[in-house]
Amino acid sequence: MPKAVYPGTFDPVTNGHMNIIQRAAQVFGEVVVAVVEDGEKDPLFTVEERVALLREACEGFSNVRIDSFSGLLVEYVRRQGAGVIFRGLRAVSDFEFEFQMALMNRRLNPEIETVFMMTDSEFSFLSSSIVKEVAAYGGCIANLVPNGVERALISALKRKGG
Ligand code: COA
Repeated sequence: MPKAVYPGTFDPVTNGHMNIIQRAAQVFGEVVVAVVEDGEKDPLFTVEERVALLREACEGFSNVRIDSFSGLLVEYVRRQGAGVIFRGLRAVSDFEFEFQMALMNRRLNPEIETVFMMTDSEFSFLSSSIVKEVAAYGGCIANLVPNGVERALISALKRKGG
C-alpha cells in the first residue's frame, strides 16, 4: 500500500483536517502528517505545539505518523520515501490554489503524485483561522476541533493577550 504525506500549517488542527486524516489512513498504508515549519508568518502555535496537538489527536491511528519539515515539500516527500502528496478539498475556492501547487510540485518531481479527497460537507466551512477567531471572541468551538486543541487554544489566546 502506498505511503502518503499530508502537509499543512495545522495552526491548529481542526476536525476538518481530522476527517481527512482518518479517511487517508484507510486508503494508504502509511500517512505522514507533516507540519510546515516556515509557512505562516505569525502562527498562534509553535511548530512543536502543532506537532504535539496532532500527535494527541491522532493517537488512535496506528499507521499515522506526525512530523515537521522545512524547505520544498517534494524534497521532503522524496526523503520520506513516499510517492503521494495528499490534500483535502473543501470547496471550489480551494481548487485554484491546489491546482497551482499540484502542477508546480509535479514539475519539480514528476514521480510524486498529488491525490485529493473531498472534506465531508459537515466540515467544508471550517478553517484554522475561523476557529481561532471564534475562540478569541469566546464562541463555542467544542465540535470543531479535537478536545486537546480546544484547551490549548484557550490558553494560547490568553498567552497572546486575546
Ligand atoms: N478542514 C479544515 N480546514 C482545512 C482543511 C480541511 N480539510 N484543509 C485545509 N484547511 C484550511 C487550513 O486550516 C488553512 O486555514 P487557514 O488559512 O485559516 O489557516 C487553509 O485551509 C490552508 O491550509 P493548509 O492546508 O495548511 O495549506 P497551507 O497553504 O497552509 O500549506 C503547504 C500548504 C504546506 C502544502 C505548502 O505551503 C507547501 O508545500 N510548503 C512547502 C514549500 C513548498 O514546497 N512550496 C512550493 C509548493 S508548490
